[in-house]
Amino acid sequence: MEETDGETATPLDDRLLDDRLLDDLEDALGAGSVLRAGRDVLDRYLEPARGRGGPAAAVLRPATTAQVCTVVRRAVLDGFRLLPQGANTGLVGASVPPTVPSGSDPRPIVVLSTERLVDPIEVFADDRVAIVPAGVRLSTLNDRLAPLGLSLPIDLGADPCLGAMVATDTGGARMLAHGDMRRRVLGVEAVLADVELTNGSGPTVIDDLTRLRKDNTGPRLTSLMVGSGGAFGVVTRVAVELARVPRESACGLLAPVDAAAALDALRILEDALGPLLSAYEVVSDTALDLAVDHIDGLRSPWGDRSPAPEVMVLVEAAGPIGTAEVLADAVAALDDAGVVDDAVLVPTDRAWHLRHSITEGLARAGTVVGFDVSVPRSELVAFRDDVRERLATTVPRAVVADFGHWADGGTHCNLVFTGGPPGDSERADARRVVFGTAVDDHHGSYSAEHGIGPHNADWWIRTTPPGDRAVLRSLRERCDPHRVLGHPALPF
Ligand code: LAC
Ligand code: ZN
Repeated sequence: MEETDGETATPLDDRLLDDRLLDDLEDALGAGSVLRAGRDVLDRYLEPARGRGGPAAAVLRPATTAQVCTVVRRAVLDGFRLLPQGANTGLVGASVPPTVPSGSDPRPIVVLSTERLVDPIEVFADDRVAIVPAGVRLSTLNDRLAPLGLSLPIDLGADPCLGAMVATDTGGARMLAHGDMRRRVLGVEAVLADVELTNGSGPTVIDDLTRLRKDNTGPRLTSLMVGSGGAFGVVTRVAVELARVPRESACGLLAPVDAAAALDALRILEDALGPLLSAYEVVSDTALDLAVDHIDGLRSPWGDRSPAPEVMVLVEAAGPIGTAEVLADAVAALDDAGVVDDAVLVPTDRAWHLRHSITEGLARAGTVVGFDVSVPRSELVAFRDDVRERLATTVPRAVVADFGHWADGGTHCNLVFTGGPPGDSERADARRVVFGTAVDDHHGSYSAEHGIGPHNADWWIRTTPPGDRAVLRSLRERCDPHRVLGHPALPF
């Protein structure tokens, strides 16, 4: 993370913008496009899904790519920073202003909300492609696509905007079947911040939108925008590859004989189901118990079975008519192979309700400190054993309630503190243990699907080779030479 010199930096609350500048912007962008600190309620833009954000001088809501260019030009020429924001559902703090000054940059921070970039949604059904403005919500796009039997098959609990999904490279629970945003995005339009101070020319608008899947014509600038956290450019439109909605889907809940057997079951199911396998979610007994205890009407599929299974698996198959039968046969084979103690087929909505209740259940049980890590699949069990053992001695108050996307090696290592929130040193120790165990001891990643943001900036610096960092910094220098874009603590 950049050095913080809280003593000399201008307090964040005092960094306001001149009223005349905001009036100018309102003239350029239209009524309702400028929300001002002190006059309008900005809370919605400053409160992320987890944690909290600092103050913003204003929220700007451009409705077209040309208006985004206007905003970026004024930011460079008038000296304020822009924080591109979608639905504010991110989990690494990248979409909200910092709570402490970052470095000695005194510029006011302004949220650039994409929420009015919503027209037009262009659907090319025969191509299985949609070209969508950045502020369109995933649910809005999928509602629009449903009558055509199509969807953007990125599945997650939240409802983010398309542009921000590119900037964070959203993963989700069906990544094993459909990939993450990096895999679904065909191209983007994005506004850079390369405005010339001397004559106000620029910024460049990258036009890499395409309906082509096959177009091997050199390096693609779209790739630079994926996972950028908005620091290389403001994504304004996105071309995505759609999938056909499966005719039939079915779910099972499994009780593997132990955590290691969850990987044996995965191997058998991959073999039996092939491309029909669409999700494989593993939930620890602790996470399931806390959810059942705190969510009304939620029940364990195992009743009072003693001992309770160490982990529960949600397996989903999706495909043509007959898929449910293929899943039923595959699940029966798991029983025969002795890798599960119990297995039930359940309605799809019930299975996902159980899975999606886990996050809420943990939040009600106490203070959750969540880590989103991944390791090669073969290391999942060893990672899990090591991290639990180390946490038991280093942060004994932490209850480990992990769940995750095991087929992709992803696991949300959530620590629940039930007897009062953790202190700063407990948080820091927990982070060091979880990240260190994943990265240093099990060839893993400290951010499997949630991105970098201020929360992970220090580990990005620690683990990214110096040469790679230098190349990325020079690309940033070309795209955003005045460093107006993205969260100030982003390290690239
Ligand atoms: C999930 C989010 C936390 O998988 O990534 O529920
Ligand atoms: Zn996840």
